[in-house]
Amino acid sequence: MDKFVIRGGNPLLGTIKVSGAKNSALPCMAAAILTEDEIILENIPQVRDIETERKLLESMGANVELGYGRAQHRTSIQCANLSDPVAKYEIVKTMRASSLVLGPLIARTGMARVAMPGGCAIGGRPIDLHLAALEKMGATITYDHGYIEARTQRLKGAHIVFDKITVTGTEDILMAAVMAEGETLLENCAREPEVTDLAALLTAMGAQIEGAGSSTIKVKGVDKLHGARHRINPDRIEAGTFLIAGAITGGDLNVDSCNPEHLGAVIGKLESAGARIDVGRESVRVRSEGHLKPVDISTEEYPGFPTDMQAQYMALATQCDGTSIVTENIFENRFMHVQELNRMGANIRTEGRVATIVGKTPLQAAAVMCSDLRASASLVLAALVADGETILDRVYHMDRGYERIEEKLRGVGAQIRRMGDVFGKR
Ligand code: EPZ
Repeated sequence: MDKFVIRGGNPLLGTIKVSGAKNSALPCMAAAILTEDEIILENIPQVRDIETERKLLESMGANVELGYGRAQHRTSIQCANLSDPVAKYEIVKTMRASSLVLGPLIARTGMARVAMPGGCAIGGRPIDLHLAALEKMGATITYDHGYIEARTQRLKGAHIVFDKITVTGTEDILMAAVMAEGETLLENCAREPEVTDLAALLTAMGAQIEGAGSSTIKVKGVDKLHGARHRINPDRIEAGTFLIAGAITGGDLNVDSCNPEHLGAVIGKLESAGARIDVGRESVRVRSEGHLKPVDISTEEYPGFPTDMQAQYMALATQCDGTSIVTENIFENRFMHVQELNRMGANIRTEGRVATIVGKTPLQAAAVMCSDLRASASLVLAALVADGETILDRVYHMDRGYERIEEKLRGVGAQIRRMGDVFGKR
């Protein structure tokens, strides 16, 4: 298994480029199921979860050409013939977002068979809200040996109020509604930029959608959708991770090819901590002398502070002069990075969903283990300021959502290298 070796101490200087958003690319790739025509997606990130999505679509009969190395990472997907509309357990168990094929499959074929996603490191993460909405649209849902089977003649428009704000739930049901009979009104929807990005693709395919990006979305179902070309949003979580990397190392970093509008909550906290931020059209510059003030954060749905930035922010809090409180409101078990940070000399204690970080504490290099995607990012950030050489194990977690992060960080002065075979020779 690949490891990272990171020697701390260098301020990050220069320009670092953000890739396309994993959490936009996944639903947009699943949306290709809704048409026989070709879908062309640009700015697809070269990360492991995209490979998994390719395998998933190909296992159902789709043609997928991942355009790595091509201009704009252009990717072509065609689901002309879905010979086997089943999301198999072997694939679903490696990536929960596989359940995003449920809505498009039943909308396109009237039938979907999807392995139930099991437990996850950060929480139970059920998909009951997806299923309840599909039932409201007339689908019959049955459970068969660990699989969900959803069947219908044709989905019918309905009035759906999500009990909880769910990102992939909103995306899944949006994809179901675009080809349902009649109108669907979705309320208490997720407002994440990834939902708006998906809606932009669906509209380019001929769907009729109003209100994406707000809590209420109205969809008028159509009989057929067609091919389209769409550019995926920049990854706001990767951009946020780099902003924290610049601040924690006392650097001067220009984070390029991002959308600053999507980073409001993160930028606000960094400014409150005393980092200097300059916002450009598609870039954000962060500067800090390394003297940062403690700032409390509480994770919320967009546009609040993203849960996917909580672990990274906690690493920064270990280097702030004073006590910070971090409250995780979205997932019940998202503090797996705490013990590893404490092994590096941090002073963090947790009680339920609240973590108390006492800073500033000098961090020491140690052998640490990644447990999930964002926890890995927080350990890389801590290692960038730790004294000595940190060995980070199980970086396959990181490869799921960060494109060649060691090369990008090395490009701005980090001392980081990968040990083990390079990420997935094709
Ligand atoms: C998406 O997950 C993201 N994944 C996650 O990013 C992100 O952490 C999360 O949204 C929150 O922002 C993708 O977009 C692929 P939710 P999702 O449904 O949609 C509960 C990363 O690091 N819930 O919005 O699965 C759920 O348990 C990943 O890139 C139900 O109870 O999250 C959670 O507590 C990790 N029933 C809350 O709602 C349901 O049917 C929000 O989850 C659905 C969700």
